[in-house]
Amino acid sequence: MKKTVKTEVLRINSQRPNDSIIARACKLISSGEIVAFPTETVYGLGANALDPSAISKIYQIKGRPSDNPIIVHIADMKTLRGLVSEISPRDMRIIKKFWPGPVTLVLKKSNIVPKITTGGLGTIAVRMPRNKIALALIKRSGFPIAAPSANISGRPSPTKASHVKDDLDGKVKLILDGGSTEIGIESTVIDMTLRTPVILRPGGISKESIEDEIGEVHFHDSLLGLSTSTKRINKSPGMKYRHYSPSARVVIVEGSRIRVKAKIIELTEKLKDEGKKVSIMTTSKSLKPKADSVQYMGNTLDTIARNLFANLRKADSDHIDVIVIQGINYNNTGFAIMNRLKKAAAETITV
Ligand code: TXA
Ligand code: MG
Repeated sequence: MKKTVKTEVLRINSQRPNDSIIARACKLISSGEIVAFPTETVYGLGANALDPSAISKIYQIKGRPSDNPIIVHIADMKTLRGLVSEISPRDMRIIKKFWPGPVTLVLKKSNIVPKITTGGLGTIAVRMPRNKIALALIKRSGFPIAAPSANISGRPSPTKASHVKDDLDGKVKLILDGGSTEIGIESTVIDMTLRTPVILRPGGISKESIEDEIGEVHFHDSLLGLSTSTKRINKSPGMKYRHYSPSARVVIVEGSRIRVKAKIIELTEKLKDEGKKVSIMTTSKSLKPKADSVQYMGNTLDTIARNLFANLRKADSDHIDVIVIQGINYNNTGFAIMNRLKKAAAETITV
């Protein structure tokens, strides 16, 4: 059994990160420790990307399978050139348009990157975040920082320092608290090593905006069943595991807006009759089911994304049995939002 550590949470200014706090975090990270910090997407669990023993601690803390590689975060182009064997003009177009920001490029790795960081793969996933705390931490430490989302594997990603503490108290020495994250869902991961780039994980930057820069890209096969029936989804390999899951059972209702609202009301009544504690997540302010709580998700894709994981976690802290969620449409970052919801869900009802 690993001894537990005392977890310190330090509040830090997200616009002008306090020097002394960054220095403290860097000291820990330079000595092979793990530090949780905010990025613009979700909180990350950071370690020196070039230090295999620090990286092995990340896998251990998260309970993450060792073949699931970790994203490496950088703050300048010189570091990128050291980490990869080649950067194409097409890669550069994405970099110029979206970095710093929520898109992660999968590129061929160089020899300096330890295998444990990339889960044994010959490629590396790399991004330049735009959160000022993250950038200050990377710049001052002087090395690239590998950071998966700072949650226990399978739980919703953390968008607040308190979420990190809920999952990792006693497991990390320091959490930098920079407030709620700006985007709320993780970065888009795109494999640039192929003739036509493939989006492996939809995220903060939509397929549509990437295509505006470099032309056609594809979604990975495992994502293609997303907007069709649940049966199809369960057949595609990458989607058979639940992720992003609160302890509550998640049910998505999608289809025509009027029928969806009626179905949510009907389902809520049925679940309440069965004695269940029910929470609704909806994009419709006029929907007033007789649930134990109704969480309004927002009326733009940006606000829905920003609140998404916090909404799921809130249901857990309220000891909800079933969360019924109103599906949204799949355009732009709606695709990434529905991807997270479907991975959290036990069931999708289409009406
Ligand atoms: O927004 C984000 O990307 C956040 C923040 C902290 O930067 N990080 C994050 O990391 O979500 P994580 O570890 O939770 O997700 C990384 C994803 C995984 O799906 C992993 O399989 C994929 O990126 N990935 C990492 N390296 C890869 C590689 N070399 N090839 C293919 N996929 C890779
Ligand atoms: Mg994650």
